[in-house]
Amino acid sequence: MLSNYLKQKLSSPLKIGSLKVKSRVFQSPLSGVTDLVFRRLVRRYAPQSMMYTEMINATEIHYLKQLPKLMEIDKDEQPISIQLFDSRPDFIAEAAQKSVQEGAQTIDINMGCPVNKITKKGGGSSLLRQPDIAQAIVEKVVKSVEVPVTIKTRIGWSDQEINILDFAKRMEDSGAAMITIHGRTRAQGYNGKAKWEWITKVKKILGIPVIANGDIFSVESAIKCLEITGADGVMCSRGTLGYPFLVGEIDYFLRTGIMKISPTPKQRLECAKEHLNNLWEYKGRRGIYQSRKHLAWYCKAFPGAPELRDLVSRIETIDQGNQLLDKAIEFFNKN
Ligand SMILES: Cc1cc2nc3c(=O)[nH]c(=O)nc-3n(C[C@H](O)[C@H](O)[C@H](O)COP(=O)(O)O)c2cc1C
Repeated sequence: MLSNYLKQKLSSPLKIGSLKVKSRVFQSPLSGVTDLVFRRLVRRYAPQSMMYTEMINATEIHYLKQLPKLMEIDKDEQPISIQLFDSRPDFIAEAAQKSVQEGAQTIDINMGCPVNKITKKGGGSSLLRQPDIAQAIVEKVVKSVEVPVTIKTRIGWSDQEINILDFAKRMEDSGAAMITIHGRTRAQGYNGKAKWEWITKVKKILGIPVIANGDIFSVESAIKCLEITGADGVMCSRGTLGYPFLVGEIDYFLRTGIMKISPTPKQRLECAKEHLNNLWEYKGRRGIYQSRKHLAWYCKAFPGAPELRDLVSRIETIDQGNQLLDKAIEFFNKN
């Protein structure tokens, strides 16, 4: 149940600098997942939620003639943020300006990615170890664009180097309008439990909104996280893989106190089919290959799911995918 304190606090819009956002539940940036096609599905159930593009390399934006497709956002899509990563303040600032031209309402800077390829070049979570550079990035981007600049980070590099309290304060002092904290260290990757207690501590010392991230897989976990951390909102990540309903379910509960009835396996498969066809339309053959992982994620918690998962993760054509999904949907029509 939602405490009265929480109800009261979360009923007002969230102010991210000059931007007002009506929902306190966010869809996280997920590389290889949160493209335009996926965001459209999530937004159907959570129209007022903040969403993010996949993280985009600012160096690439600087050198490439054409803007990457990852930057594409729908004309009427909002609230929407473009997430950038890099270690060079000037490149990120330039990419931020282009992002605003593309329609970004906030610029989010990735300071949490654990992947070696990124951290070796000084981006992502390695910025936790280079707070001076992180500060320089935020300061430069804030000066370069009119929209709010936000950051997403982790609690530290490792258990021995948890520096989120100092780091978050420095980001606020540099002009960040909001901070999202994934409650794990870089060393944890995606393993072990998210340490929400660190988010509680950060919330106590910052004036800007703090969004809690990590292990939000259900309405219950979202409520628990909000109660524990006192955060201004929650951000869903892996819980949305093959389940674009999650952000909407949590948002609905926060708004009404009523638990939405979860989609049936048939409805989930119908959504998977729509996802597949939209990817095909948007990306062609590449969309089919990308759809494999999505379709596999949809195949859980129903009879025959493991067998179907195995088949959909090997599709070569749109017809193959549609046939497999139609057959499964037909099964649920009869049973
Ligand atoms: C497949 C995948 C892709 C991700 N891509 C990004 C990304 O582009 N930018 C980012 O800030 N975090 C990214 N993350 C991290 C998530 O946004 C989130 O912080 C993390 O998964 C913790 O939340 P969870 O425990 O609810 O999954 C990614 C995570 C996964 C699993």
